[in-house]
Amino acid sequence: MSTPYWIQAFLGQFESDSHKVFQGIVVRVRPGSVRFASFDPEIQTAQNGTLVWGKDQKYCVTNIRVIKDTELPTALIECTIPSLTSESLYASRKNEQFATALLFDQDDRLTQALKNIRFPYDPLMSVPREIDTTTSFLGHQLSSPIYIVGMTGGSSETDDINRILAQAAERAGIAMAVGSQRWVLEKAQKYKLRQALGISEKTPLIGNIGISEVIEQGTDCLKKLQDLTGVDAIAIHLNILQEFMQPEGHRTFADTFSKLETAVRQSSVPLILKETGCGFSESILEKIILWDLEAIELTSTAGTNWIGLEGMRQTSRLKQQLSADFLDVGHDAQSQVQLFQKMAKHPQRKAKLVASGGITRGQHVAKLIYAGADLCSLGRGIIRVLHEQDGNPDALDDTLKGIRDSVLLAMGLTQRQNLDKFRGLWQPSN
Ligand SMILES: Cc1cc2nc3c(=O)[nH]c(=O)nc-3n(C[C@H](O)[C@H](O)[C@H](O)COP(=O)(O)O)c2cc1C
Repeated sequence: MSTPYWIQAFLGQFESDSHKVFQGIVVRVRPGSVRFASFDPEIQTAQNGTLVWGKDQKYCVTNIRVIKDTELPTALIECTIPSLTSESLYASRKNEQFATALLFDQDDRLTQALKNIRFPYDPLMSVPREIDTTTSFLGHQLSSPIYIVGMTGGSSETDDINRILAQAAERAGIAMAVGSQRWVLEKAQKYKLRQALGISEKTPLIGNIGISEVIEQGTDCLKKLQDLTGVDAIAIHLNILQEFMQPEGHRTFADTFSKLETAVRQSSVPLILKETGCGFSESILEKIILWDLEAIELTSTAGTNWIGLEGMRQTSRLKQQLSADFLDVGHDAQSQVQLFQKMAKHPQRKAKLVASGGITRGQHVAKLIYAGADLCSLGRGIIRVLHEQDGNPDALDDTLKGIRDSVLLAMGLTQRQNLDKFRGLWQPSN
């Protein structure tokens, strides 16, 4: 862990071929932060992984450490600011995304969107003696129809989060997905993901790569990623808007649909297609439902919103304006529920339909499955629990158990013994 200091003034600067080392007098303020008084005027605070502009180049702050702890409020500290590699760029971006996601609060949206989905009640109902919440996914049996969605493929700090999440998933008997693993492809070295996460073969593990890599590198990158990391399946994320919002993002999305279709057709790796916060249109979903996919993850504007989140992360006023102007792009949760209700009945569908975006409570999961989703995935909702409970894994166990209990209760209320009988039971009244 980094040390809780802000840099107030630099005492000196030492250069080597690849490193600049700064020393400064600092004031202790909050965990993991340093304050640059004379470096980057745009960035007031930084932590290990934060990007800062030097005179004419971007650097990534690492290795913040105390040299001499003098009397508070000052201390002598040192931090290393190496030139950026793509790995350090990824790490710093991820750390910032996690911090910003926790601030992005629109928790009521999904609850509001689902308020018309109501469970029946009859005081003389016959509740089945045994209710089974298990469901099959990627050749495994999950204890309940949920998984932890991909948020980080690893960076020094988010690696810890991934490990805690993955082990909670294993204890709960659900699946675990990781975030973008582009850096693994770039390094082209074996990365024993299960070992790094500390989980066994019994937990289904989902890797992750962006649509831009698939377009640029073709189908081969999927098999390569699976071989390097040992994942059971790979989720391809469709995040064009996010890429446009990131200064370092990709901009080339010509022929996306046909290139993706070819990649899916040629791939021997089980695939999940995931949208990351703006949902699908009906015309596209109608086509991809016919592809040979393990699952399609439908998010909506009720969940983590990347235009908003990237806007909060940017220091440029123009980018912040762009974010504000396009904040309402995408499909809302109600339209996505209608969409998966319709697509769930598609006679030729192969993929499981996963509801995602803004899911934080058992009530959300129970209602979405009742409305027709096969599974639900949780992102920000789960890291928020971890954050609010100071990283206590027990809090995750309680949350995941609470979700299963909600599904169990909803199945009891509808007098259904297993998920096949419960799923899609709800019908809108008009
Ligand atoms: C901090 C953070 C990082 C994320 N990183 C990735 C990623 O690397 N790859 C990906 O496919 N989705 C990523 N996502 C998107 C999530 O997988 C999910 O699609 C989205 O957050 C909607 O779910 P939520 O509202 O429950 O957070 C990330 C989400 C968060 C909150």
